[in-house]
Amino acid sequence: MLLTVEEHREKHPEIRADYTIDQHWHRYSAAEHATWRTLTRRMEKILPGRACDEFLQGLKQLKIGDEQIPDMERLSDELYKLTRWRVVAVPSLVPDAIFFEHLANRRFPAGHFIRKPDQLDYIEEPDVFHDVFGHVPMLALPVFADYMEAYGKGGMRAEGLGTLANLARLYWYTVEFGLIEKPEGLRIYGSGIASSSAESVYAVEDASPNRIHFDLERVMRTKYRIDDFQESYFVIGSFEELFKETYKDFAPLYQTLKAGPTFEPGTILPAERLHHRGTHRYKAGSHRATA
Ligand code: PHE
Ligand code: CO
Repeated sequence: MLLTVEEHREKHPEIRADYTIDQHWHRYSAAEHATWRTLTRRMEKILPGRACDEFLQGLKQLKIGDEQIPDMERLSDELYKLTRWRVVAVPSLVPDAIFFEHLANRRFPAGHFIRKPDQLDYIEEPDVFHDVFGHVPMLALPVFADYMEAYGKGGMRAEGLGTLANLARLYWYTVEFGLIEKPEGLRIYGSGIASSSAESVYAVEDASPNRIHFDLERVMRTKYRIDDFQESYFVIGSFEELFKETYKDFAPLYQTLKAGPTFEPGTILPAERLHHRGTHRYKAGSHRATA
């Protein structure tokens, strides 16, 4: 749930107008560090051969280890040296405008809390594991760091144009659930996948979901699932290609998007390049909400 700054103040007296708080790293309990350890060790077994090298290298370069929850200040000092980004602590979800403003200024807002032991596989709000382990490694890659800044600026614009729903789909299908084509096969770069052990296997190996080559307009017309594994993943050819595609002015595209179809998450179109046509076996019989 989205709370106002004032509503957060009771729990976080130091909260600032931009929703940032102190991480209070020393307040994490041994049990909370143990949760981090369980989650990261699980991913360390699953990600090699499934996540792209850029993600794995980011983890290593930033020394995001499996011992304890990272101290965001120390982490930011490493990240800043590489791409001039910083990680700032927030209570949990922040309003869109605040989120975009942070990204546009090369600050990644990360939830400071860690999930409870009975939520290892699924939480509704992004915690420090999803945000730091899932998102921050890709920010060590210069072209991706630039993409995220551009996205923040694009978000501020889209708010004014009333086209946030379209832009949010781009974030979802790239930053959160993106796959990339590599000589050795399809690899994960999306943070929503890379912070989920089950979805990391499913996204790369399962026969169920579609794996469709990335097309900007197509992605912006496609709804997504927020409460289950994706029915379709979009595959980029390279980060440079993604950046080039998205760096242009979206105003004419937003105009085009006003007319024409919106696609359901599982749709396949006649002319598109498929890396894999999903069997949709996993989905058979389930009908859940889509956003
Ligand atoms: N080019 C987009 C615009 O004109 C901004 C953007 C860049 C959005 C990169 C997403 C990613 O609004
Ligand atoms: Co996320």
